Amino acid sequence: MPFPARFRWGVATAAYQIEGAAAEDGRGDSVWDVFCREPGRVRDGHTGDVACDHYHRWPEDVALMAGLGVDAYRFSIAWPRVQPDGRGAAEPRGLDFYDRLVDALLERGITPFPTLFHWDLPQALEDRGGWMNREVAHRFAEYAALVAGRLADRVEHWITLNEPVVVTAFGYALGIHAPGRTLLLDAMPTAHHQLLGHGLAVTALREQGARQVGLTNHYSPAWAADETSEADRRAAAAFDVFMNRLYTESVLRGRYPDLSVLGDLDPASFVRDGDLAVIGAPVDFLGVNYYNPTRVKAPGPGDPLPFEIAPIEEYPTTGMGWPIVPDAFLGLLRTLRETYPDALPPIYVTENGCTFGDSIHDEERIDFLARHIDAVHRAVDEGVDVRGYFVWSLLDNFEWAEGYHARFGLVHVDYDTQRRTPKDSYAWYRDHIARSRGQV
Ligand code: NOJ
Repeated sequence: MPFPARFRWGVATAAYQIEGAAAEDGRGDSVWDVFCREPGRVRDGHTGDVACDHYHRWPEDVALMAGLGVDAYRFSIAWPRVQPDGRGAAEPRGLDFYDRLVDALLERGITPFPTLFHWDLPQALEDRGGWMNREVAHRFAEYAALVAGRLADRVEHWITLNEPVVVTAFGYALGIHAPGRTLLLDAMPTAHHQLLGHGLAVTALREQGARQVGLTNHYSPAWAADETSEADRRAAAAFDVFMNRLYTESVLRGRYPDLSVLGDLDPASFVRDGDLAVIGAPVDFLGVNYYNPTRVKAPGPGDPLPFEIAPIEEYPTTGMGWPIVPDAFLGLLRTLRETYPDALPPIYVTENGCTFGDSIHDEERIDFLARHIDAVHRAVDEGVDVRGYFVWSLLDNFEWAEGYHARFGLVHVDYDTQRRTPKDSYAWYRDHIARSRGQV
């Protein structure tokens, strides 16, 4: 069976990874600006100061999307452009940028899917504790209302958060990402406060006229290193709670899974009465980002976390070293449907993609995308309600702690000249989209 006629094909990016223009039009510092300035944090000291210069070159980038024939574009709005200090009145020049972008997309028939928080928290809020501080959830909802107040007359689909688990795990628990804190399990309030911010923002967005609201989670199926070992199975279950279920069950069912599997944690110290009802406010879709499964084994003695990551060596890997397992993607989509049969809203695959060197002849990316799209296709045929698929990413861009070394784009970017060159995968995706519409 072909993909449903209304299935949406898209591409995705995020503000800090592509925009550059870090000090323009009143933009404040985000945690990533500050983190990048600290020696040793990002490979080769790369920063997002210029990135793909999308802030100035967006018309060219919109033309590249139009050339692909995508139905939809997922981008993110930089909170520190809209509220340089993370609170108070909006900086109109920041909102103007997204206003123009949205109009240009709509003129080309491309549906905008903005994400409100893709990791670039205003540094001024980090200085007040960042996501460890419950107040930030309220600031987030106010910011969401400002953006929707300006754009919801034209923008139907809204994504509140991108991958809150990565902010908690890499940003606050392990310190690999901004803001670089190493709180280990003491970082768990940041998960709750982001989810609370999501729930408050759902209401704030709807009040401003947003019609379709969801959030994007990172999913990684957990494989026990040794299925016959009870300790490994327990560790895999704990990883599954930490990585996947915490952010799904809370939003879809208004309750947390049993968090005691994570260790000595006192949720009562940060979860207040009524919070889970806010977090469980109905959403219109679930954004699913999938890259790879994770093998998990029991922690060693004295390990502060209830699991350890073990290598997956029997599959080929991407340039990031991530195992390529399209079947795990199909399994994930099935699991979501089986676990939340009555509560699962329509799914958008809001990210999927890979990096392999920097050649524009990227056969491996074509193969990766074809096999993962096939997994989505099979899930749709089995009745999983997937409504769209976004490739990460339109452009090579700033890959966080990897700087510019990892290239995920369908379009190659020469960072010296800012020249964009479509890769072979760009032509392949364009043809795939046309074929799936019966145009060729
Ligand atoms: C998920 C993140 O949302 C995105 O920012 C990142 O570049 C990709 N994964 C690839 O790591």
